[in-house]
Amino acid sequence: MEAVPALRRCLLAQCRRPSSRPSPVFLDFLAPTALRSHRYASTTGTAGTSKPRYVLSKTQREFLDSALRVNQAGELAATLIYTAQNPQVVRSHPHLRPLMKHMYDQEAGHLKTFNHLIAKHEIRPTAMYPVWEAAATFLGWSTAALGREAAMACTEAVETEIGSHYNDQVREILSWEADAERRGEELDDELKEMLSTFRRIRDEELEHLDHAVANDSKEAKPYDPLVDVIRLGCRTAIKISEKV
Ligand SMILES: [Fe+2]
Ligand SMILES: [Fe+2]
Repeated sequence: MEAVPALRRCLLAQCRRPSSRPSPVFLDFLAPTALRSHRYASTTGTAGTSKPRYVLSKTQREFLDSALRVNQAGELAATLIYTAQNPQVVRSHPHLRPLMKHMYDQEAGHLKTFNHLIAKHEIRPTAMYPVWEAAATFLGWSTAALGREAAMACTEAVETEIGSHYNDQVREILSWEADAERRGEELDDELKEMLSTFRRIRDEELEHLDHAVANDSKEAKPYDPLVDVIRLGCRTAIKISEKV
């Protein structure tokens, strides 16, 4: 759990880092429209095929920009929720220590992935960071204070929203892949890798959801208002972080 301040320092350092290196636009599928002529440049895909590379439109690049910003913020929130929950949950239910650690470790891995992608593609992190940090810590602390079932209901609510959010991103990129195929083009290798990363993380979030339900999230009292409020909070945070 002590890893969070270190991750936060690393994140802030990355956000503040001046852009001293040359912009990787020629390699970056999030490259500006000025380089659209590269659409027709032949590239070699992972399968060894030689097809023109599918170049993203401005709208598609903006979609990815927002998606990565939201994902980074969401994963920071997830690590902070577990950081606030774990001591209380583990103190009263020591048998949950390995599970809580497993879920925290996966969230820390997700955050590391998005910190890397945000820095690499020079995407602006959300300006709401301090607000989400405070909200996530409060959410983790307060649900754990209500008991193990409420802490698990929090995970169930968050993962329901986040799992479907990742699923929307996967579906969107798959539609680009289908579009590329129709044109006889191929997605950039890095975009293919991002697609598989989103799929893996979505599956891990849904695994957390299953763990929460298996550990009596549905027994939380009051279950419906608690889950509804947390889900609404997640959807609102996602909407705001897409823009701000
Ligand atoms: Fe996560
Ligand atoms: Fe998760």
